[in-house]
Amino acid sequence: MYSRNILRITSILANSSRKLVLNESKVINRSFVSITSQRDNDKKGPTGIVLMNLGGPSTLDGVEDFLTRLFLDPDLIPIPFQSRLAPFIAKRRTPKIQEQYDKIGGGSPILSWTEKQGKAMEILLNKINPEYAPHKSYIAFRYAPPLTEDTLIQMKKEGVKRAVAFTQYPQYSCSTTGSSLNELWRKSEKLDPEKSIKWSVIDRWPTYPGLIEAFARHIETALKQYPSDIKNKVVLLFSAHSLPMVVVNRGDTYISEVAATVHRVMERLEFSNPYRLVWQSQVGPQPWIGPQTNEAIHGFGKNGHKNILLVPIAFTSDHIETLFELDLEYGHEAEKAGITGLRRAESLNDDPIFIEAMANIVKDHLQSGKVMSTQLMIRCPKCKKEVCQRARDFFTNQTI
Ligand code: FES
Repeated sequence: MYSRNILRITSILANSSRKLVLNESKVINRSFVSITSQRDNDKKGPTGIVLMNLGGPSTLDGVEDFLTRLFLDPDLIPIPFQSRLAPFIAKRRTPKIQEQYDKIGGGSPILSWTEKQGKAMEILLNKINPEYAPHKSYIAFRYAPPLTEDTLIQMKKEGVKRAVAFTQYPQYSCSTTGSSLNELWRKSEKLDPEKSIKWSVIDRWPTYPGLIEAFARHIETALKQYPSDIKNKVVLLFSAHSLPMVVVNRGDTYISEVAATVHRVMERLEFSNPYRLVWQSQVGPQPWIGPQTNEAIHGFGKNGHKNILLVPIAFTSDHIETLFELDLEYGHEAEKAGITGLRRAESLNDDPIFIEAMANIVKDHLQSGKVMSTQLMIRCPKCKKEVCQRARDFFTNQTI
């Protein structure tokens, strides 16, 4: 019942925001054209803001290609004989994953959410950051269209000379943002050898105030749905995608950055509730960081807790890990564990507070004059991948 409600609410929100974005798009198009004509002779040209994320198949037919690209990525999953094994594994897993996407409406909503976020962010940026206007948002997904190469080709066609690679993962990991940046370097070498586009990078923003505020408000809204006498006893279960221990032990910063986000959110909530950070979506037999979210739900059920609020803390838009894994899969498991009050905080999606945070992050970045964070300058202490150094060299030699 809970899951159906969530899906219904998500669909209502999606419909209303679609109308909003359609209206906003007209405004953007008008303002983009008028700002462009005012600045025709400005050598700066438009500022491209490239929203980078893993992406997801928008239709069931896109699942196999999505999985193939995913299993082909050595930054995400290093597999022996990768180029031959990846298509085989992808094909074998496709029917099961198609079933999951079928249950959340026939595809991933991540593209439509990212488009809405990007368009709304453009409007704000043109207002609050006029010296870099016009801003134009692009999307570069790692495993589903629009892919990095398609976006680069489009940007070159549209004459973009300055661009910001803006990761949509608030917390940095070499498996996610690192993979997208490595891919951006590879494709830039191939498609823009003359280096006509100057790049800078927003590589992490785990404690950005607007992000923390948006998360905190979504938690407060969800907590209001519990009876007032138990509201402060509800266990907040912050859930993030897990990571193999081999990556953690290489020196990846993801775990500490997710923990930093959780701590700031709890600080903002004045530590109103008990909470834990847990990890979801583990696959394969290798050790991953834990406890796993489903195990934690079972454990709390066994310990007599009846009310748990799940908070997706490492993704900002709805996708299969929220709509299927948290809402449907773990929802059923919670029922079995005797948890009667399981809810989930809504994803940030097109929340205006979150959109404002996105625009401010970009503005602060451009005004800082810094090409990337100091954290991106060094590699993981146990990294042996040459590509990580080559990509860093590429971005270090850029200017804003
Ligand atoms: Fe982290 Fe290479 S794996 S920098």
